[in-house]
Amino acid sequence: MTVSTCLYEGKAKRIYQTDQVNELLVEYKDDATAFNGEKQAVLSGKGRLNNEISARLLAKLQEDGVPNHFIRKVSDREQLVQAVKIMPLEVVVRNVAAGSLAGRIGYEEGVKLKQPIIEFYYKDDDLGDPLLNRDHITELAMTDSETLDAIEEQALKVNTILSNYFLSKNIRLIDFKLEFGHTETAGQLILADEVSPDTCRLWDANTNEKLDKDVFRRDLADLPEVYEQLLHRLGDA
Ligand code: TMP
Repeated sequence: MTVSTCLYEGKAKRIYQTDQVNELLVEYKDDATAFNGEKQAVLSGKGRLNNEISARLLAKLQEDGVPNHFIRKVSDREQLVQAVKIMPLEVVVRNVAAGSLAGRIGYEEGVKLKQPIIEFYYKDDDLGDPLLNRDHITELAMTDSETLDAIEEQALKVNTILSNYFLSKNIRLIDFKLEFGHTETAGQLILADEVSPDTCRLWDANTNEKLDKDVFRRDLADLPEVYEQLLHRLGDA
């Protein structure tokens, strides 16, 4: 496989064209950012760890019937994915109050929610990624109601699969963020982007120790060390 032009560089990843039509290479960088890029660091090992963890979680989701863009891991920091036209939407699923939800509805962090909450955020750095409801999404002509229903269904399925998977490692899935898009080939709606400790909150089920990017956001611990421990708990490949 030959890799050519960098099509896109985000805060934590670069996307390259390949010589295969409709296949892209994702390179996970060592850069860490938080609060819309206000806090930044380069953390050696982060790219390798997120590439490995995301590859495993996306493969697991595929096995369990959630179609997604992952094809295969090609190196320490790189994975091959299907080309997808990503929607500018962050889909957050929450099981336990934490982060921005705790502030929004006045819950203490750690309160278990009565049922999972799904939220949509507009991926727009200039606007600060605001919360959107379905009417906003319709107004922005981003997608239709049926597609939003399908996204919610897939997001809840991901929640069930990953909550059970992490619980088998004595880890609670507190919340997470997903991104969806349509394949360039068939226009099929599929899960894309990454599923990693950068995009999930994961707490040890006994101690509530944080095993995710909150350790960087809140200066709690060394991020690569924590991600390495998480990978270790997920088990050998
Ligand atoms: P929040 O509580 O800050 O809204 O975050 C909810 C979840 O979404 C949490 O698991 C972290 C993840 N997330 C991202 O992946 N990217 C982001 O830009 C933000 C703000 C949150």
